[in-house]
Amino acid sequence: MHKITILYGAIREGRLSIRAARAVEQALLKTGKAEVTFIDIKDYNLPVMEARLKDMGNPPANLLEISAALEGADGIVMVTPEYNNSYSGAMKNAVDYFTKEWAKKPIGVVCASNGKMGGINASNLMQLLILGIGALPMPYKLLVPEIHNALDEAGKPQNEIMQKNLDKFVSELLWFTEAISAQHKRTAG
Ligand SMILES: Cc1cc2nc3c(=O)[nH]c(=O)nc-3n(C[C@H](O)[C@H](O)[C@H](O)COP(=O)(O)O)c2cc1C
Repeated sequence: MHKITILYGAIREGRLSIRAARAVEQALLKTGKAEVTFIDIKDYNLPVMEARLKDMGNPPANLLEISAALEGADGIVMVTPEYNNSYSGAMKNAVDYFTKEWAKKPIGVVCASNGKMGGINASNLMQLLILGIGALPMPYKLLVPEIHNALDEAGKPQNEIMQKNLDKFVSELLWFTEAISAQHKRTAG
């Protein structure tokens, strides 16, 4: 069983990109090969980062909870909408709190927009961000264009292409997670 943590990074009222996060969660569970922890940044009310978790004398419980979910994961999925040609500020703010939690973890990127490009700009920048935190961005990304039509409120794909891309994303994620977590286990300690 692979431990996968989904980090969902939009906090806007009426956010649609949560559908993409739910779609990935359900598709992962359906494989029977993954345990999923879902971290919705909106639940944590994180202030703008003034100190990293590792530099805090008395860290708040909510940050420790996210830290444990990231550190315990074999693989991570980051889900963000595209805002102004980039990822959401809420996602970047959350990412900046953590350091060792990311080390050499495989991270799959999921981006969504209500336009036709599916968050391609945000997805490229997410991959750069992932390199910046010392993690391993998975080459295949899940882009969700016209999210209002592509997924229903529960995250169920509404067309064949969406379903195909979702299945490919999950299968690639499990492949990379298996390969990289095996290497982590070999070199642990
Ligand atoms: C501040 C802001 C900026 C946005 N910028 C873009 C953009 O650059 N490109 C794009 O395709 N969609 C953009 N959108 C539209 C989002 O793709 C759309 O809101 C979509 O539903 C995903 O975001 P959500 O989870 O907040 O709903 C923007 C939306 C907001 C609120």
